[in-house]
Amino acid sequence: MLRRLVDRGAHVVPVLTEAATHFVGAATFSALASEPVETELFGGATPIPHTRLGRQADVVVLVPATARVIGEYAAGISADLLGATLLATRAPVVLCPAMHTEMWEHPAVRDNVAILRSRGVHVVEPDSGRLAGGDVGEGRLADPARIVAAVAGVLAARGRAIREPLLDLAGLVVLVTAGGTREPIDPVRYIANRSSGRQGHAVAEVAAQRGATVVLVSASELPPPPGVTTVHVETAAELAEAVLERSGSADVVVMAAAVADFRPVAVSATKIHKRDGVPEIRLEPTLDVLAELGRRRQPGQVVVGFAAETGEALERGRAKLVAKGADLVVVNDVTMPGAGFGHETNAVTLLYASGATLEVPCAPKRTIAAAVLDAVTAIRREGTPVPSPDAGARGPGHDEGAAR
Ligand SMILES: Cc1cc2nc3c(=O)[nH]c(=O)nc-3n(C[C@H](O)[C@H](O)[C@H](O)COP(=O)(O)O)c2cc1C
Repeated sequence: MLRRLVDRGAHVVPVLTEAATHFVGAATFSALASEPVETELFGGATPIPHTRLGRQADVVVLVPATARVIGEYAAGISADLLGATLLATRAPVVLCPAMHTEMWEHPAVRDNVAILRSRGVHVVEPDSGRLAGGDVGEGRLADPARIVAAVAGVLAARGRAIREPLLDLAGLVVLVTAGGTREPIDPVRYIANRSSGRQGHAVAEVAAQRGATVVLVSASELPPPPGVTTVHVETAAELAEAVLERSGSADVVVMAAAVADFRPVAVSATKIHKRDGVPEIRLEPTLDVLAELGRRRQPGQVVVGFAAETGEALERGRAKLVAKGADLVVVNDVTMPGAGFGHETNAVTLLYASGATLEVPCAPKRTIAAAVLDAVTAIRREGTPVPSPDAGARGPGHDEGAAR
């Protein structure tokens, strides 16, 4: 939610209750908002934080609105910074309830929501679906897209519109791979790599937000991004099959997965035991999916590869680009601080088929994803950029954070 509002140019100040910090840390909120979070009525940098926050706001969004917050707000109780801010603001309030079905259907909660509604509070009704305990029912927090649409509507009615979402990938089918494959040795062991799948999932999520129809072939355990058709795979062979089956209808293929280069020739049907001695595991190469995509490429299709390297990264990335016939290779030196496997951030160099390069400094993986997709749209529009001897090639420059 916070990311989506920030992406659309909103300036977001997170106000956390004490309970909120048990679910998600303050550092996460301040990183996403690029703002320090506010949690305290007393002892903070400014003496009367609630009136400042209340007056500054164009809109206050309560997400998720718990039974407690709804009850205290309806009763006019200002027990913490959030409660005080709600009473100190004249801005419109968007309330997004989330709780278990029993709580949501409780007469007290019903009455409190009705009171707030009668006072002009905008209520985004919860969805039906999986709840915190794994059970299913009404009370699940509304989909973020629905909440952002409600916030945009409330602001527009007051002449304070947020930016329209960027939909430059509308009408395109984008196929993305993510995660590290696992090659079984026996029923309990496998050969794997350190890829978390975060970068590929970020590409899929941002592409979907920018209007693409996205199919994600994921070997990662991360949850599927919203609005994306996700196919889970485990081995390189499964990934190859899933990708090649779908690549014919894709306008763009982004191969962010770390696909095993080798797999055991034979997989033992039963667990290999210590008492049988140290096993000798013979390996054979897997299918090179990126090279195969390069061979099968249709006119107009853009193929993007990723290269995780540990030295001579640019040279190796350039060799990969040529060998595989890709349009773009995203190189990351995984030995650099803050880059590569498992991190929330990454630092990459984009290598174009023409020889042009573009360095993307250390940034959240979603920003890296946006830069890769900018390069894809530029290649589709203008072809691959001409290299210049001293400067990197410039893309169209959609910078997620710049317009805040
Ligand atoms: C795992 C867990 C999940 C919870 N989920 C919700 C919830 O979805 N809605 C709710 O109203 N309270 C929920 N509660 C209870 C609230 O955490 C508790 O009432 C808290 O004080 C409300 O948060 P607030 O102080 O930020 O309003 C949950 C508690 C736990 C331990």
